[in-house]
Amino acid sequence: MPGFPIDVHMSEHGLLDSIADDVRRGLSAPQKFLLPKFLYDEEGSLLFEQITELPEYYPTRTELSILTDIADELMGRVAPREIVELGSGSSTKTRMLLDAGYNAKTLAKYLPFDVSQTIVESACVELQQRYPDMELHGVIGDFERHLGLVPPPVGKRLVLFIGSTIGNLEPKERLELLGEIRKMLAPGDCLLLGMDQVKDIGVLEAAYNDAAGVTAAFDLNVLSAINNALHADFNVAEFRHRAHYNRDLDRIEMHLYANSAQTVHIADLDMTVEIAKAESIWTESSHKFTQDTATAMLQEAGLTLDAWYTDSLRYFGLALATAQGLALDPHMSLRRGD
Ligand code: SAH
Ligand code: TRP
Repeated sequence: MPGFPIDVHMSEHGLLDSIADDVRRGLSAPQKFLLPKFLYDEEGSLLFEQITELPEYYPTRTELSILTDIADELMGRVAPREIVELGSGSSTKTRMLLDAGYNAKTLAKYLPFDVSQTIVESACVELQQRYPDMELHGVIGDFERHLGLVPPPVGKRLVLFIGSTIGNLEPKERLELLGEIRKMLAPGDCLLLGMDQVKDIGVLEAAYNDAAGVTAAFDLNVLSAINNALHADFNVAEFRHRAHYNRDLDRIEMHLYANSAQTVHIADLDMTVEIAKAESIWTESSHKFTQDTATAMLQEAGLTLDAWYTDSLRYFGLALATAQGLALDPHMSLRRGD
């Protein structure tokens, strides 16, 4: 028996079970689309872990290097009693912060929150060994629907939302989510938000069109996930992944293009979808930020930027924010990489 509770607000396939309406809507639209959270079934979570190790995929290693640099200082400054992490995945990078808080004996509890139960369970098993005296409490749910079900705080709270997962949401959805996160913050509590930065297009496009084809497999897996969940018959081999940077909207757009005309049946929706040759299904966006656009986004959601951490190339940014009117310490304003 594991020594930690896991609250399940959604079964392993809950997300896929609840996708019927979204899939119907997305595949009926003039530009067909699917939602990014469908990408993370069990297979998708495994493929994502492989993406983080690709030579072209710089975000994970860059964010890790920033976290390594700032961990002691940040955890000393914020001194949270608990960390709630949204979209925690394998919690690998998080260890930098957990190590610092655990060694300083200030951090007592870690709550990973993710849609994927298997990944949270395996992360907790490893974390339990690494931090025998830390309380672990997993939460399985959709951060767009179940944030209110996070257990009440045991003290000062740091909400962690890293990996640039915020960039996978559309502006309206991310504003709503940031507003909900704001409600989780009491005076002295903070949000640490990781965002990929605007940069050279060649670097950006390579990161989402890797030579080994792992990102393509990850993206194509969404069709298999829908085949399984809704008894559909997408011929996955007849689709090709391609990611393009949209300069006007500062985002990578990932599409699956049909190699040939397809007629797809989705039994559970009693739906037939016609897809023309070369037509695309838009599967995901990955928005890129600057310090200015990040600050404006936080501001709009009622959050104030307290510190901005970046790497020497300014490839990735981490914003430390507090709820407006609830500043951590107005006299401390620390900037790195300026
Ligand atoms: N934080 C990790 C993982 C990022 S991948 C890292 O930085 O490497 C995005 C993670 O968010 C996945 O583990 C995925 O399962 C989770 N996720 C995506 N959409 C979600 C949602 N709506 N609710 C909860 N978790 C979600
Ligand atoms: N949020 C990360 C990003 O936008 C990870 C990610 C989500 C991703 N979907 C992806 C990475 C698809 C590669 C391909 O970069």
